[in-house]
Amino acid sequence: MLEKVSTILRMADECNTAVISFICMDYNMAYSVIATAEKTNTPVLVMLLPEHYEKNNTMNVGGFAAMVKELAESVKVPVGLHLDHSYDYESVIRSIKKGFSSVMIDASAYGLEENIALTRKVTETAHILGADVEAEIGHVGLAQDCDGDKSDYYTKADAAERFCRETEVDSLTIAIGNAHGVYVETPHLDIARLEEINAATDVPLVLHGGSGIPHEQLEIAFRKGINKFNVGTEFLGVYYDAVAEYVHNTEGDGRPLKMLEVPMFVQERLCGYLEEKLKLSRF
Ligand code: 13P
Repeated sequence: MLEKVSTILRMADECNTAVISFICMDYNMAYSVIATAEKTNTPVLVMLLPEHYEKNNTMNVGGFAAMVKELAESVKVPVGLHLDHSYDYESVIRSIKKGFSSVMIDASAYGLEENIALTRKVTETAHILGADVEAEIGHVGLAQDCDGDKSDYYTKADAAERFCRETEVDSLTIAIGNAHGVYVETPHLDIARLEEINAATDVPLVLHGGSGIPHEQLEIAFRKGINKFNVGTEFLGVYYDAVAEYVHNTEGDGRPLKMLEVPMFVQERLCGYLEEKLKLSRF
């Protein structure tokens, strides 16, 4: 069933766990996430990263929202729809109007005052339109640039408290040693900092850069206040490997319509990965 993201985050908080938010680029990924959520009875979020349709022409915004809503309405488990990193007011509001009732405004590349001002502007309009807003303080950069190691970028508890109070965001992305993409070295989450931020704020906390963080660290982070956990790179990697495996298995067999077998082949592989991953989420 399609559920508001804020409701799912509240459920996660009550269960001392995190809902996993998977970046999906198409039907195969969204279908697999929702089918596995239903099979394992685990709430999930399906997330669109605007960069994927803007740069890679993966899908259109309204079509993605409608597809996820229809899939979500066909199952009993709660499924939320979320728009990942968006960087300007206009595109966030456009996406809400095209069907996203939960969005992220990421103004974390700016200083604190500008971040507060832009986030505040988005929450004011988004809340009137009935949408939830996630925003970021501190800066979660790219793992390839070793951003997870740059503690200057880490979120500070006092700034997080002020940010939440002045922007009225519904959830908060924090930087505690995590980064997007493939980690150069094993990340070490700053759990003491997470506890401080959690004590200073009263919104669900979000951990980005989920691919490659050791599960033992995630289990602790979920117990200490992380209620939403983003995964992208790893999931896309499983997808690519499944396509490559199918191509390898069928190369040269001359059948003209074998392309039609690709969706179900990759969906099975994606579901296998997701079933393992969703064990982290203890609702
Ligand atoms: P990864 O691609 O590192 O898993 O991060 C995903 C993410 O945080 C999207 O916002």
